[in-house]
Order: sequence, then C-alpha cells, then structure tokens
Amino acid sequence: LKRIAVMTSGGDSPGMNAAIRAVVRVAIHEGVEVWGIYNGYAGMYEDNMVKLESRSVGDILHRGGTFLGTARCEIFKTLEGRQKAAENLKRRGIEGVVIIGGDGSLTGAQLLSELGIAVVGLPGTIDNDIWGTDYTIGFDTAINTVVEAINKLRDTASSHGRVMVLEVMGRNSGWIAMTAGLAGGAEQILIPEMTVNLDDLCTKLSKSRDAGKKYSIVVVAEGVGSAVTIGEKIAKDTGLDTRVSVLGHIQRGGSPSVFDRILASTLAEHAVMALISGISNVLFGSKNGAVVAIDLVDAIGHKRTIDTSTFRLATLLSK
Ligand code: F6P
Repeated sequence: LKRIAVMTSGGDSPGMNAAIRAVVRVAIHEGVEVWGIYNGYAGMYEDNMVKLESRSVGDILHRGGTFLGTARCEIFKTLEGRQKAAENLKRRGIEGVVIIGGDGSLTGAQLLSELGIAVVGLPGTIDNDIWGTDYTIGFDTAINTVVEAINKLRDTASSHGRVMVLEVMGRNSGWIAMTAGLAGGAEQILIPEMTVNLDDLCTKLSKSRDAGKKYSIVVVAEGVGSAVTIGEKIAKDTGLDTRVSVLGHIQRGGSPSVFDRILASTLAEHAVMALISGISNVLFGSKNGAVVAIDLVDAIGHKRTIDTSTFRLATLLSK
C-alpha cells in the first residue's frame, strides 16, 4: 500500500482534528503517503484534495471542528456520483481511505468500498449513536459542554426558584441528554428511547416543588421534541416559573477533551495499520476500554440503544 486518504464527513465533532493528525503521522511513519480530502464526499466527488505532510497537521490537535472541512453530500447518494468519486481516487493512486464520521458517512464508506476502494471508518459524532462502540469521538467533549451549561443554569435557577428546560442535541438518540443529565444532576431527563408522558412530568415537577425542591432542571433530547413547547406546557400546567434554553451548536465546538484526543489518536492508529495489513470494511471503536474492529455492515445495520441502567440511576439520584 503506497497511498491513502483521510477525510471527515457529516456533522463535525471535537477530536476529528486529533484523528486526522494521527492518521497522517502514523501513515508517514509507516512509509505511506497521505492525502487529505476536503469537505467529505463532496471533495472526493470534486477531486478537491491535497497531499499532507507531518507539518500540515501541526497546531490542530487542540482545535475543535475539522481543518479538512466537512459536508453532507447529496450527489454521493447516486451511483454516478460515487463512481466519479472513486475514479478521482484511483487516478491519484489512492488505494484506501480513512473516513471519520457518523452513521450516514459510514454508510457512504460501505458503498464506496463496493467500487474497489479499501475503506476503514472511525466513529466521529457527538451523538454517541454508533453501534458496536461504547464511545464516539466528540461525545465526551460535548457532554462536558452540556454539563457546564447545566451548572450555570443551576446557579440562576436556584436564585429564582425556577424550572429550567434545556434542549440538547443527539438527533434521534438520547445519549447526550442521558449522560449529561446524570452528571449534571438533572431532575428530569426526556429521551426518545423512553416513553415520555408530559402530564406525568408536570405532576412530578409540582410534587417535587411541594416536597421542598427549590428548583428543577429538565434536560430534553432534541429527538423528543421542542423544549420550547415542553416549557410552555410546564408553565401552563404547573404554574411554576419556567425558562427554556436551546444549547444548539455550542455542543459541537470547543477544544477536544483528553478522552476524545486519546480515543481519536488510538483509533486512528488502528485504522492506518489495518489498511496497511490489507484489512478494510471495518470501523474501529472502543468496547470495555479496548480497541475493537467492527464490521462496517454491522455498525451501519444496527441501531444503538441506550444503556437503561444509566437512565435508571439518573432517575433514582434525582429524587
Ligand atoms: O449529528 C450531529 C448533530 O449535531 C445532531 O446532534 C444534530 O441533530 C445535527 O447534527 C445538527 O445538524 P446541523 O449541524 O446540520 O444543523
């Protein structure tokens, strides 16, 4: 194997830069040339790529986002689009690609492999919704950002005796809400994986106020619905002074945590070594603290569920 490429795709996540840096430096150490593809599949289709050296990835380890850029690309969903992208790689002699991204990006990777390009995936998304790995790159940084927001909301909620409703990201997954809710001590956590009954929620909030709770934090995963609507219902049904915050893309930025940098660097090393050994169509992840290779078709073919024991504990501790 002489030449590989690396790219980031889909929504960015903190730690993507750390992964790119590790791919480039491990590959060069192994005598393999590396190209960086700009803007994910869009750049692959447009032949927008550059040869990367060790120095090209200096000063990025601590930065959020992805210096290669990223995109969600419609044209790659067509066979013609994929064929043109694969031809661009072949013309440059690129035999394998490390693709860092979420579910959709890994599905694209599998399709690209059917056109004769070796692919290895790395789970890059704040959502932590990839099957087969305990953690995705960026999740830890994102939940730390959410917990920081909860801490700040607590200060002001406590001063005013309010209900604070906080909407967090995660698409259809409740991992961000559940984990940050546990770490931040939220009174109520609403996630799409568990039945949400808003009348029950209002009753519980009223009861805890009657039982002496001065204030409450309600964390809502965006997959459940709008926190604004939920906040309006709480205010109307309970009469409690209620405010709503939507954290939004603040969760996607920021310097990656130590955990995300180490996860990204370790998985990236495995990805490069796999391509060099002739292994492809796998996703590298972390399971019980060890690096694991997951078949790409399994990773994209299964929906990751939540860890119900974490949800149960969060509920128990919020009493
Ligand atoms: O997948 C990451 C994510 O941040 C989701 O949590 C969120 O639903 C979505 O991307 C937002 O997408 P965009 O950045 O395109 O608005």
